This record gives sequence, C-alpha cells and structure tokens, in this order.
Amino acid sequence: MEKMLLKRLIALQVLDSRGNPTVFVEARAGEMEEFCGRSFVPSGASTGTFEAFELRDNDEKMYNGKSVLKAVENINTYINNKLVGVNIYEQSKIDNMLINLDGTPSKRNLGANAILGVSLAIANLAANTLNMPLYKYIGGINANTLPIPMMNILNGGRHSNNNLSIQEFMIVPNVSNEFSDNLRAGAEIYHSLKKVLKENGYYVGIGDEGGFAPNLKDEEEAIEAILKAIEDAGYVAWKEVSIALDVAASEMYNEAKKINEEGKYYFWKREALKTKEEFLQYYINLIKKYPISSIEDPFAEEDWEMFTALTEKVGNKVKIVGDDLFVTNLERLEKGIQRKAANSILIKPNQIGTLTETLETIKLAKSHGFETIISHRSGETEDTSIADIAVATGCQKIKSGAPCRTDRVAKYNRLLYIEKL
Ligand code: PGA
Ligand code: ZN
Repeated sequence: MEKMLLKRLIALQVLDSRGNPTVFVEARAGEMEEFCGRSFVPSGASTGTFEAFELRDNDEKMYNGKSVLKAVENINTYINNKLVGVNIYEQSKIDNMLINLDGTPSKRNLGANAILGVSLAIANLAANTLNMPLYKYIGGINANTLPIPMMNILNGGRHSNNNLSIQEFMIVPNVSNEFSDNLRAGAEIYHSLKKVLKENGYYVGIGDEGGFAPNLKDEEEAIEAILKAIEDAGYVAWKEVSIALDVAASEMYNEAKKINEEGKYYFWKREALKTKEEFLQYYINLIKKYPISSIEDPFAEEDWEMFTALTEKVGNKVKIVGDDLFVTNLERLEKGIQRKAANSILIKPNQIGTLTETLETIKLAKSHGFETIISHRSGETEDTSIADIAVATGCQKIKSGAPCRTDRVAKYNRLLYIEKL
C-alpha cells in the first residue's frame, strides 16, 4: 500500500450526551486535505479507578470544572507537531508514538481523552482514504459477524436518581442470527416495558443511557417488570431473550465505606447492607430464580477473590463480566485470567486510550475463551466507531444502551447499515 501522510489534526471542545464537554478530533490527509477522519471521545460516570486518565481542566468557573481545553490544546499543538508527516496506515506505530509522547502508564500527561481522539480519528481517516468502512479496514476479510445487542432498558445506580442501586438492567435479545431481528425484539420489549410501568403507575422518565428510571421497590421488582414486558411483547424469556445486569458494585463498595462499613456492599438508595458472602448468595438466588445470562462487575474492582468465587460457582452457565475490574487493560486481564476471576470482558476504548491497545486486549481475551462485549459510556456522542470495532474483531455482544436517544441508537443504526453492506 502506498504511503499517505498525516497533514493536520484539528481538535475542538464539544458536548457529550450529558451536556459535559468532550474532545472532538479531525485528522486530515491528501494534497488539498481532501481526506478526513473524525472521532468523538465518550466519558463514564461510574469510572473504574484503574482507567486511563481523562484530562479535565478542573476550573470550577467553566462547565463545573469539566472543560477539556487542555486536552484539546495538547492535540492542536504538541501532538499535531509530532505526528504531522506520519504514514496514516501505520496505526500501531502511531499509537506507540502517542504512548511514548505521553510517557506515563495512565496517559496522565496528554490525557487519554486526547490520545484516544487522535488514535481513532487517524484510523477513520485511513479507512476513508481507502474508501473502506472502518470495520473492514481494521478487521479485513474476517470481519463478518455482528454482535448481539445488550440493551440497558432500566437504569439505576449512578445513571439515575431513582431508588435502584444496581446500575443497569439489560435485555439480551437473541431471537435470530440477524442483528436487525434482535434489535427489533429489543425495541419492542422497550416499548412494552413503558406500558407495563405506566400501567403500574410508575414514572417513565429516562436515565443516562435511555432506559427508564422508575422508583421501584427494589431490584427484583425491576427484573419482574422486564419479564412481564418480554412476555407482553410476545417473546419467550430465556429461549429468546435473557436478562443481563451491570451491578457496577465498586459504587456499592464505596458507599459502604462512607457509612463506615468497609468491606461490605451497600444498596445505598434503599439502605440495605450486605457482607461479601451475603452478596454472593444474593447472586446465586437471583440466577436460580430469573433468566439471567450475564452479570457485570458483581463485586468491587479490587475484590478479585469474590469474582473468582462467583465465577467458580456459576461461570458454567452465566457470564461474569469484568468492566471496572479489567478496564480494557492487558495486565489486569492477564491477572484475571490467572485467577479465573471472570469469563467475559467489557471493552471500552477510552478506558485504555488507543485503538491498538484495545485490539490487543480483545485478542488476549478471545485467546482465553473470554466473551468480549464492546461498550459505550454513559456520556456518549454521535461517534459510531465501537460498532465497527465490534464487527472488526468479532465481539459477541455490544452494549449501547436502550433503543432511545440518538447517542445510543447511532451505534445500532450503524450495525443495521453494516448488516446490509
Ligand atoms: P459508565 O457506565 O460509562 O458510567 O462507566 C457504563 C458501565 O459501567 O458499563
Ligand atoms: Zn459497567
């Protein structure tokens, strides 16, 4: 392939789906800068401690301290000056340059938000110059399986101000081999859930990821409402649609600390405290009672023993997913593989900061039989690169929230388009 040189990087501060500032990057190439590739960086609310560093300005007078003008400036000046003239088809070399320019393990100097924006803008640029969709540029001829959607239709935890402490109640529609059929089932169940909630007098306002955020009695009532919605929509639970939870238990662990109950887990929104053993038993009971196919972050990000205990007990039938536990980080995943702490990993490019590192983590996970789930963040944008990365790497599932709000639906729509290509 002939070389194509990077001409310019242009970064801006834009807004994410929660109205917080984030980084947008455009990378340009060609004689007249006639080629470009773009990227918007997402942002989490329940971020793991071990995630790569998101650089924010911390100037309380601007956007409540959340502006990203330093990250933008780093791209427009320092990174641009160092990268102009690189061959845009050498993605891993470029990502390594970015890692070295920063020089810290957590990408603290330039900001992982600056680095990821550049990394993905250049990948999109390279694909565009070849007139190729991103998934094909990254995945080549093997990129032909679409993921199953995991749709977060009921929101709790840090993503809402209702009284559910578990963060996400997802449906996993697996009614056919076609992505479009699964998406349709998910959307129909979402509408059916709205009806169920309304009929029971609940509020149907939505949380950060487009799911409803009603004030239910407890987490089990949330699961029961979803089961009713599945049935009302004409689908069969377990056989066609299962339920997945993202507990985001680091939050519960931290809430317990705040009330001086270190080492326990606190459903802080309804004031129920559990010891580690009680929490383990809680999961075992839930799995017995309900069609639950997957539980993400069932324990806190450093509670490796409990992850291992749960995986040992239920890992043959349920996916135990590490999100805050692994933070898309190769070393943490290696540790998890050794300890048999999970059998599935959430993949979020902004947790680690470059496309190349994201692909390496997916590769290691797959080589150990882990299921890989690509994921959005609660603060999202119109960027759809994760849909392409899912197809490129054969991730089995994608988490992109409820079938509601453009920031969530953009990824699903991109997959509908890829399905038809
Ligand atoms: P976050 O939540 O983007 O707020 O971190 C998503 C998740 O925990 O999976
Ligand atoms: Zn999570």
